[in-house]
Order: sequence, then C-alpha cells, then structure tokens
Amino acid sequence: MSLLVIRDLVVRRGGKVVVDNLSLTLDAGRITSLIGPNGAGKSSLVLALGGVLPIESGVVELEGRSLAGKSPELIRAAGIAAVPEGHQVLSGLSVEDNLQAAGFQHSPRQIASIIDDVFGIFPELLERRNQKAGTMSGGQQQMLALGQALVARPKLILADEMSLGLAPLIVKRLMGVVAKLATQGTGILLIEQFTQIALQLANEVHVMARGRFRYSGVAQPLIDDPDILHKAYLA
Ligand SMILES: Nc1ncnc2c1ncn2[C@@H]1O[C@H](COP(=O)(O)OP(=O)(O)OP(=O)(O)O)[C@@H](O)[C@H]1O
Ligand SMILES: [Mg+2]
Repeated sequence: MSLLVIRDLVVRRGGKVVVDNLSLTLDAGRITSLIGPNGAGKSSLVLALGGVLPIESGVVELEGRSLAGKSPELIRAAGIAAVPEGHQVLSGLSVEDNLQAAGFQHSPRQIASIIDDVFGIFPELLERRNQKAGTMSGGQQQMLALGQALVARPKLILADEMSLGLAPLIVKRLMGVVAKLATQGTGILLIEQFTQIALQLANEVHVMARGRFRYSGVAQPLIDDPDILHKAYLA
C-alpha cells in the first residue's frame, strides 16, 4: 500500500485555485522531488497536506486513513512531519528545548530517547544542545528544523526549500541526511530550488506550474534534456 495517496486535490487561496486537481502517491523509503517556478503552488500543497490550509476537495489518505479536515497536530501524530518554507526555530530557546517542544505527543521518557536519536543524526546539535537556537548559523538552525520534524518519528517528511540561503557544504550535509532517512524507510517529499540536487536524489519527480503537474516521472529524461524541464516550467 502507498504511504500517502492524494487524489484530485484542490486547494484555494484568496479565492484562487492554487492546487488544481492534483493526484500523487508517496511511498515509504522513496524520495519524490517537487520542483517548479515561483508561485506554482508547491508550498500550498505542503501546507494543505500538513492541515494548515483547508482542502477544498479531493482525497488525502495516509495508509488508507483520510486526513482531510484533520488538525496539524493530528496529522503530525499520524506520521506526517512538515518542515515548512521559512521554518523558524524558537530562537530564544536552547537547541534541546526546541526539540522538547516538538515532542509534545510523546511521554517524557520516550522524548529523551528520541532526542538522543536526533543528536545521533546531527552531532552538530549535540555540541550545541544548551545554546540558544537563534545564535546558531542558518545551516545549524535548518538542521534543528529537520531535527524537530524527526522528533515526531515521521513516516513521511515534507521538506519545503530546506536549502534556501545555505552554503553548498551545508546543503550537501542536509541532503545526505535526507537520503539516509529514505534508505531507512521514511518517505520524503523534497521541494528544492536547486534543481540539480532535486533531480539527483529523486526516485520520482513532479514539475509543478500553475497548480498542476506538467511533468511526472523519473528524473533521467530531465537530466538528459533540459528542454523538457524548461517546457514544463513554462507550461
Ligand atoms: N498568504 C497567501 N494568501 C493568498 N495567496 C497566496 C498566499 N501565499 C501564496 N499565495 C498564492 O498561492 C499561489 C501558490 O503559491 P505557493 O507559495 O504555494 O507557490 P510555490 O510553488 O511554493 O512558490 P515558491 O517557489 O516561490 O516558494 C501563488 O499564486 C501565490 O500568489
Ligand atoms: Mg514555496
């Protein structure tokens, strides 16, 4: 069974349809890259899947159970963790308290072991566990944002432009973690402005423009022929 099934999803924003009858499936252990021009509706899709924007119509099912109309908290507890675009960590709190705050659905005993796991993935955060999050570099803060998603022990991560404004070395580090999470069975929806990274990592790619997918399939044709990619962007 697919992890997440989306059928005929419509999301409206300010009266305008921004996700226009989209269907897609996301599977455990697979990276699905979502690319496309500014305003295509990528972030709106993530916000709707996370319960932040209302779904106008269509089906969203996680392992066969409908998520339509559910709150962000319930959706997160069900196994979908979003790292939203421009996610802000709680800058006045320490790294560890940020992770604690993200673990509201776990018991105190569980949360300690889950946070240890996150520190295992990001030793950079362990070194800074008592540091105020706002005093860290942009890259370290993005690691923390991903760490906060991991605290939910998600089946599916929705990562919206995690690499925005970060140095290439940090981007590589974050993408390495994303790839590893996928090999361990987590499903990933990866929204990336660095098209080459999105294509390299993807098991499957969707190019979105004006609310719809203009290309869906494997990455290789897009790597081989940039014209296909450009046409999909301009559709
Ligand atoms: N807060 C908002 N209120 C109303 N409309 C919005 C709002 N934010 C975005 N939109 C509109 O929704 C549409 C889709 O925007 P969205 O942010 O989902 O695109 P995107 O693909 O994530 O773009 P980007 O690559 O710039 O992040 C755009 O037409 C945009 O103008
Ligand atoms: Mg966006």
